[in-house]
Amino acid sequence: MELQSAKQRFGIIGQSDSLNRALATAIRVSPTDLTVLIQGESGVGKEVFSRIIHDLSKRKHEPFIAINCGAIPEGTINSELFGHEKGSFTGAIGDRKGYFETVNGGTIFLDEIGEMPLDTQAYLLRVLETGEFIRVGASKSLTTDVRVIAATNINLEEYIKKGKFREDLYYRLNTVPIKVPSLYERQEDTIMLFRKFARDFAEKYKTNSLQLTDNAKILLKRYRWPGNIRELKNLVEQLSVLSDEKNLDVMDIIDIAPHLAQSMLPSKSLSDKIPESMSERDVFYNFLIDMKRDISQLKTFVTQLISTNKLEFPQEGETKSYNPIASYYNDTPLGKNVAFQKDEYLPLYDEEEKGLSTKPILLDKYQIDSYQKVEIVEDNLKLEDMEKGMIIKALKKFAGKRKEAAEILGISERTLYRKIKQFDLEE
Ligand SMILES: Nc1ncnc2c1ncn2[C@@H]1O[C@H](COP(=O)(O)OP(=O)(O)O)[C@@H](O)[C@H]1O
Ligand SMILES: [Mg+2]
Repeated sequence: MELQSAKQRFGIIGQSDSLNRALATAIRVSPTDLTVLIQGESGVGKEVFSRIIHDLSKRKHEPFIAINCGAIPEGTINSELFGHEKGSFTGAIGDRKGYFETVNGGTIFLDEIGEMPLDTQAYLLRVLETGEFIRVGASKSLTTDVRVIAATNINLEEYIKKGKFREDLYYRLNTVPIKVPSLYERQEDTIMLFRKFARDFAEKYKTNSLQLTDNAKILLKRYRWPGNIRELKNLVEQLSVLSDEKNLDVMDIIDIAPHLAQSMLPSKSLSDKIPESMSERDVFYNFLIDMKRDISQLKTFVTQLISTNKLEFPQEGETKSYNPIASYYNDTPLGKNVAFQKDEYLPLYDEEEKGLSTKPILLDKYQIDSYQKVEIVEDNLKLEDMEKGMIIKALKKFAGKRKEAAEILGISERTLYRKIKQFDLEE
């Protein structure tokens, strides 16, 4: 099968070399019965790949099942996979077939294979090598014809070193390795994926499709995306529901997903070479301008704190103390008073008019505490406002249906219920 038609058929978005290579390997290996090990971070599309391999194989009309080894309790995984005999353990009321029996002829996808207990690993190796397995509590072995596709988001070689994973099983599974690239490794595909999801959710929620400004595109490309495509998809859904703005700029995104601001921090590439594009530099400058504004607000605030508390500005050589704010002035090259008086943002203060004495100010422990309190309270207020606003939007969007609203907000229904009470949002 050809690469582009496979992408169409299975809804695979992306044009990067690393993705193409992974997909080409998957297509090439699909008609064989070889075991495949798919490696890649969470949310990159490992399960989608396993499905493609099955659907392009001669087993396509036989069953396919995906099992997350990390989600099955250690005590029941052998019975789930291989079945059990009546009475083999407490609660084994009757005989039970395991997946290797029911999926006979088909494909089993074993996700998070690194979390499989060691004894189960031994049974798996046996079934891979001989096609034989034994139900828990039975004595005679059965045969099966199952193709195994395994996946992991951890480095199995590390697990081998720690004695948590069998080396022989690793080599057996790794006959054909496929590495699905993270979104960060294929930044050029990010916007294409965004557009696809924006279209999908616009259809689902009957709104106009989201657009991105150039700076917003840079923000999305630079973000690390630990949850990869799954995380991007969730964000686009949240934005589709919660954002009033359809042409999204950087702040529209950060309003709803504040953690994305981390990608605005200077990276290695910014510090050791000239930014590739003008607009990337713009984003960074905007960030610095925001920061400068915050600092002037802080200065104004401190000045007001000093004046309303009838405190005094520090004097040369007199403010050696543990006090971080005072010592900041000490370290200012311009000298103490000058630092404030010269500041264009702070013409508020006229020293002579107020007849200030020349004694040092000491913002003592109490005052620092109260300053910090003010800041924390303000932060909380802002956060609460944002939270409340989003909850109102989500409830509106879903006509008061709490289940859907909680889902899009990424909180439990119980939490939403509590918040509705807290913000007094009950009609
Ligand atoms: N290349 C891709 N193009 C579009 N959507 C994708 C692509 N790869 C994965 N997805 C979507 O991303 C989500 C996560 O994929 P999944 O296969 O469950 O990831 P993993 O198993 O690696 O955690 C799914 O909704 C899937 O449909
Ligand atoms: Mg998965």
